[in-house]
Amino acid sequence: MLFKRAKKKQEKQVVDERLQHIAFIMDGNGRWAQKRGMPREFGHSHGAATFKKVGRYCESIGLKYMTVYAFSTENWKRPQKEVDTIMRILDEYIEECFIEMVDDNVHFRFIGNLDIFPAELRAKMDKIDRETAHKPFLLNIAVNYGGREEIVHACRELIREGVQDVTEDDISAHTYTACCPDPDLVVRTGGDLRISNFLLWQSAYTEYYFTDVLWPDFSGEDVDAAVAAFYARKRRYGGV
Ligand code: IPE
Ligand code: IPE
Ligand code: MG
Repeated sequence: MLFKRAKKKQEKQVVDERLQHIAFIMDGNGRWAQKRGMPREFGHSHGAATFKKVGRYCESIGLKYMTVYAFSTENWKRPQKEVDTIMRILDEYIEECFIEMVDDNVHFRFIGNLDIFPAELRAKMDKIDRETAHKPFLLNIAVNYGGREEIVHACRELIREGVQDVTEDDISAHTYTACCPDPDLVVRTGGDLRISNFLLWQSAYTEYYFTDVLWPDFSGEDVDAAVAAFYARKRRYGGV
C-alpha cells in the first residue's frame, strides 16, 4: 500500500540534478509517543517505520542519495532502557536489510564511529554495504555519528597517512560521506532549530528546512513540501 502510493507520486514530482542528496534529522519520536501517553520507546518503533517509508519515497522521486541521523554520539546519555530499545531496532533493521537487499535499489551504508559496536554487528554492516554497493540509491544511516567526531577522525587519518599540506578536499575525502556529494538539503523534523552535531563539515552550503511535524508523522507530502521549499530558493555560494 505504502509502496503503491510512492509509485503514484513518482509521476507527480521528480527531482532534477539540483537536488540529489537529502538528509534528515529524524527528531520528535519521544514527544510523539508522550503525546499519546506512551513510553518514548513506542515513538522509536514508529519512527523506524517512517524511516523505511520515507526512504522508499525519496528513492521513488529520483533522489540519488539520502542520509539519516539515527543515533548521535551524544544520544548515549539517554536512559539505558531507551538506548537498548534503539539498539534493538538497529539490530532488527540490519536483519531486514539482509532480506530486502536482494531486490531493493538501495546501497545501505552505516556511517559514524562504528568501532563502538560489537564486532559481529560491524561485520554485518560491512557485509550489507559491500553487497549492495552496486545499487543506484545510496542510503547513509548515521549511527554513533557526531560531526565533530567525524572531523577529528578525518584529521587523525590524515596524520596517520603523513599528509602535510592538508586541503579541504583531503578532509572531505576522509569524512564518512566521502563517497557522495554534500547534502543539498537537510530536513529537521520535531520543531527545534538546530543541527545537533549533524554533518558539520558537509553542510557548509546546504539548505536547511525545519518543520514542526514530529518524525513518526512525517510523510511523502512533507517531503514534497521540503522539496518545493528547496526549489524556491536561490543558492549563491557566496556569489551574487
Ligand atoms: C529522535 O527523536 C530519535 C533519536 C534521537 C534517537 P527523539 O528521541 O530525540 O525525540 P524527542 O526529540 O525527544 O521528541
Ligand atoms: C538529534 O536529535 C539526533 C538524532 C535525530 C539522531 P536529538 O534529540 O538528539 O537532538 P537535541 O538533543 O534535541 O539537540
Ligand atoms: Mg530529540
